Amino acid sequence: MEMMKAVRIHSHGGPEVLTYEDVPVPNIQSDELLIRVHAAGVNPIDYKVRQGIFRDDRKLQFPMILGWDFSGEVAAVGSSIKNFKAGDLVFGHPSMMRQGAYAEYIAVKENEIALKPKALDHIYSSVIPLSALTAWQALFDEANLSANQKVLIHAASGGVGHLAVQLAKWKDAYVIGTASKNNKNFLLNCGIDEFIDYNETEFDKVLKNIDVVFDTLGGDVQMKSWPILKREGFLISIVDPNQIEAMSKRYDVHGKCFVVTSNYQELTKIAALVDEGYLAPYLETTFPLAEAAEAHRLIEQKHVRGKIALVVR
Ligand SMILES: NC(=O)c1ccc[n+]([C@@H]2O[C@H](COP(=O)([O-])OP(=O)(O)OC[C@H]3O[C@@H](n4cnc5c(N)ncnc54)[C@H](OP(=O)(O)O)[C@@H]3O)[C@@H](O)[C@H]2O)c1
Repeated sequence: MEMMKAVRIHSHGGPEVLTYEDVPVPNIQSDELLIRVHAAGVNPIDYKVRQGIFRDDRKLQFPMILGWDFSGEVAAVGSSIKNFKAGDLVFGHPSMMRQGAYAEYIAVKENEIALKPKALDHIYSSVIPLSALTAWQALFDEANLSANQKVLIHAASGGVGHLAVQLAKWKDAYVIGTASKNNKNFLLNCGIDEFIDYNETEFDKVLKNIDVVFDTLGGDVQMKSWPILKREGFLISIVDPNQIEAMSKRYDVHGKCFVVTSNYQELTKIAALVDEGYLAPYLETTFPLAEAAEAHRLIEQKHVRGKIALVVR
């Protein structure tokens, strides 16, 4: 049996449960591809699954390879694969119901990948799919953001936020973002129109008539966001479904919380926007695959600017 290096968890717990070990290279079915992973993006969902607080956790099985963001090269294709061949350079967001990308190889389905941006190497490409798909689906598929609308993006300097800022600017929206003052210049460089330092200014005291709020924080931040929406405005959340129904009725606005899904067409469009210069991921730092626990310790502090990646090869 061919073996590979991977980082798995055998139980929930702290970063110490991440185990760098030898595991079998996945066997692929006829509708799957085997990808030689070059780099894996690290996302908050990785430590939420590790901790056991991901809400669909009951469907996940131990031992489990974490990581649902990657860039790599097609190593082999199943007999029914039509759109890719061995040697293609691809990036993707595999379904969370399959083994992840903290590994030298991953098995994926066609709809979970696209050709990676030509302008970026594997490390930068690896941090794009999950965050960019989330931002795309929130702003465009769900909230239907259009030119000249005002959008408030919470945690605009985060993995999802900094890509959401750039996608909203590509749509010619007016973009307001929250972060701490450390990230003001970074966000101005991302194209933001108005910056709010959450330590200095209460956003709900200075904003009104907002078309779209992108809620990446939930709780109090979400509660304070409802009254600043214009009538028929849209609050799209990726973190907190609890009050959505009641609050959207109370304020006569639209509200929804959703989970990102893989999408070949959207990933292809995202890669094109990168190559055309509209979208650029910011990489705070990288770790070797064997040091995934250090990457988790960093991202759990919730102050990463942009993204971090694990270098696999
Ligand atoms: N539903 C889905 O499909 C989906 C998909 C992707 C992500 N998510 C979830 O969405 C959340 C955000 O993900 P992410 O990858 O963007 O997280 P992230 O990269 O870890 O976010 C870190 C950023 O948040 C900022 N931040 C922290 N506290 C803040 C506050 N009170 N106000 C404003 N900004 C604040 C930090 O800026 P400062 O350092 O300046 O504070 C930092 O740049 C996570 O909970 C993640 O699990 C859900």
